[in-house]
Order: sequence, then C-alpha cells, then structure tokens
Amino acid sequence: MTGNSRLISSAQDGPHGDLEVLLRRHIAHPFLKPMADYNREAFAVAMLAYEKWQPGAPLILDAGCGVGWSTQRIAENYPDHFVFGVDQSVDRINRGKPLPLPDNAMLVRADLVDFWRLLAENGIKLAHHYNLYPNPWPKIGHLARRWHGHAVFPTWLALGGELECRSNWSIYIEEMALALTLLSGQTVAAEAYSTDEPMTPFEKKYLASGHPLWRCRVNLR
Ligand SMILES: C[S@@+](CC[C@H](N)C(=O)[O-])C[C@H]1O[C@@H](n2cnc3c(N)ncnc32)[C@H](O)[C@@H]1O
Repeated sequence: MTGNSRLISSAQDGPHGDLEVLLRRHIAHPFLKPMADYNREAFAVAMLAYEKWQPGAPLILDAGCGVGWSTQRIAENYPDHFVFGVDQSVDRINRGKPLPLPDNAMLVRADLVDFWRLLAENGIKLAHHYNLYPNPWPKIGHLARRWHGHAVFPTWLALGGELECRSNWSIYIEEMALALTLLSGQTVAAEAYSTDEPMTPFEKKYLASGHPLWRCRVNLR
C-alpha cells in the first residue's frame, strides 16, 4: 500500500444540483428491482451464522467491507454484537485469507443493493451501519451510482442504527449529509476526520498520501 494515491478529480465543485429531486423520487417510489438468487442464498447463510452465534444479539453491518479489516476491528470493538462484512467482490472477500476474524463476525459475498433490502424486508434493525470509503463515482453523470443517489438509499432509514460514512472526497460526504438530513429529518453535518489508526486499506492509503478525510454520522434510531 503506497502513499501515492491521487486526489479525487471531478467537474463538480459542490453537491450535485439534482440530488434532492432524485432522492425525493426514490423516497416516493419503492425500489422494485427483482433480487438475485445468490444474494438471497448469501443472506440466508449469514442469518444462520448470526442466529447460531447468539439469536437477538445486536447486529452491525460493514457495508462494502473490501478485504474485511474493518469487519475484524469492529467485531473486536463490539464483542457482544454480531458483524456482517458485506462486499460484492469475490477477490476482495478472499484476499489475504484466512483473516483472524473473531467468532462474532463473518464476511459475506453479496450485492448490497439486495442485501440491504433483504435485511429491511425481514424487519432487521442494525445497531451500527458503516459505509467506509464507498466508490465515489465522481463524474457528474454518475450521481445515481453514489449510494445517496441510488434507488436503494431510502432502505437505510428502515435499517436504523448509528450510521457512519467516510470518504476522501468532501463532496461525497457533503452530499451524503444532505441526503441523510432529508431522509431522516435530523440535521446531519459533514465533518473532517483524522486518525492515526486506519481502519481499512483505503483509509490507510489515503492517510499515507496526505489526503484529508471526511465523514458524516447520524443515529437513525
Ligand atoms: C473503495 S472500496 C472500499 C473498501 C473498504 N471499505 C476500504 O475502505 O478499504 C469500495 C468497496 O465497495 C464494494 N462495493 C461496491 N458496490 C458494491 C455493491 N453493490 N455491493 C457490495 N459491495 C460493493 C467494492 O467491491 C469495494 O470493495
């Protein structure tokens, strides 16, 4: 992991002007895309592991966990919670394994677009919900690929919990904070973030490259 990561470059110089209209549309219209069988299977396996560990234990989702460093760290920090680290990339989920994952964590290969909806459909509430360094999609035309511009985004409200999103692109976090404010009715701020103990490979890479980091947090109760 080197310290030569480039800063995000984008034609956007502030939050996207279409965000509010897009989000209001997503809130008003349920997202009905059919779910893939492999995500249903991954969800069923994950729920079995969770219930086997301790039914009813508070649940944490590390969404887009990559290679799972953060999943491991979160599970160590919350030994009485169960942690799902979910990522769609087989390569990342399998890289550098086996990780010394504690018993209260598992890595799941699944598409979050379905995994989030399966959690919500099953009435599952999260204690914490991490979105650490999501793909930024910095092109102006890619707003709908950023999580807050995606049709699945309103599902986050139903999942509840203490949500935290981090990025090295300030505009992503400003937009996320605006979207969470609209979705939750609470004022969510974009804030600068710094740490000496990076929690993920991307965080480590950005810190080594001298990038400022940003985050927003809200308790979705
Ligand atoms: C920039 S990486 C960050 C990984 C890790 N959180 C970190 O900070 O090192 C974004 C991750 O999100 C995952 N991802 C993107 N879209 C996804 C989706 N629809 N479902 C599951 N994972 C997804 C990617 O596979 C990738 O591992």
